[in-house]
Amino acid sequence: MSTLFGRRILLRPLVAGDFEAWREVRRRNTDWLTRWEPARLQGQPDVVEDQDAFAVRCSARQRERQLGSGYGFGIFVDGAFAGEINLNSVQRGPFQSAYVGYWIDEKHAGQGYVPEALVLVTRFAFDELHLHRIQVAIIPRNAASRRVVEKLALREEGVALRYLEINGVWEDHVRYAMTAEEWDERADELLSAWVD
Ligand SMILES: CC(C)(COP(=O)(O)OP(=O)(O)OC[C@H]1O[C@@H](n2cnc3c(N)ncnc32)[C@H](O)[C@@H]1OP(=O)(O)O)[C@@H](O)C(=O)NCCC(=O)NCCS
Repeated sequence: MSTLFGRRILLRPLVAGDFEAWREVRRRNTDWLTRWEPARLQGQPDVVEDQDAFAVRCSARQRERQLGSGYGFGIFVDGAFAGEINLNSVQRGPFQSAYVGYWIDEKHAGQGYVPEALVLVTRFAFDELHLHRIQVAIIPRNAASRRVVEKLALREEGVALRYLEINGVWEDHVRYAMTAEEWDERADELLSAWVD
């Protein structure tokens, strides 16, 4: 249940032993990623440079997985660490929903790896976790990320104003979603296009 196999990629939780590979990729992609990510809080340890902080992050993700509140995956291409895709803020009760966030090493961009990863995580969310809704929120000017959800034809639900803090600014986000009913209708199409 913790490793997901795609056509070209593998998703699995990151572990402390991934630190060297993680640091190499994150260092090389600072500019590529910083403008699309929340700013690091003052006093918060730097998981890119601090091996212990990275190990703590891995443990926290493992704990979330045990509690069922979040599922983080590293994206691996040819066995090498290449990015991340996470199912965050899993809400049970009447919501049964989660948010998906993702990024990939710039050197692997444009190969369709993240759409493939998103289909794997979507299948996991609906078929394994039995959630009812997955959501992706994207800054309107992030054309590359919007292409990812467009390729999978996630439904656009509108713009949420000043929705998330990204790189120190409260940014508007376009919200995309898929529900379990839509997945049931489209799973075969999406899996044969991206995974099988
Ligand atoms: C958004 C992102 C995850 C897309 O992942 P990906 O695996 O490259 O996705 P795709 O291969 O489907 O490419 C999506 C679009 O990116 C653009 N793209 C392709 N190669 C690119 C490159 N080298 N540099 C910039 N953009 C590129 C293209 O517009 C492409 O659409 P197309 O296939 O119709 O031409 C990736 O660009 C990324 O990690 N960006 C930085 C972090 C980020 O924005 N995360 C998402 C926050 S919501």
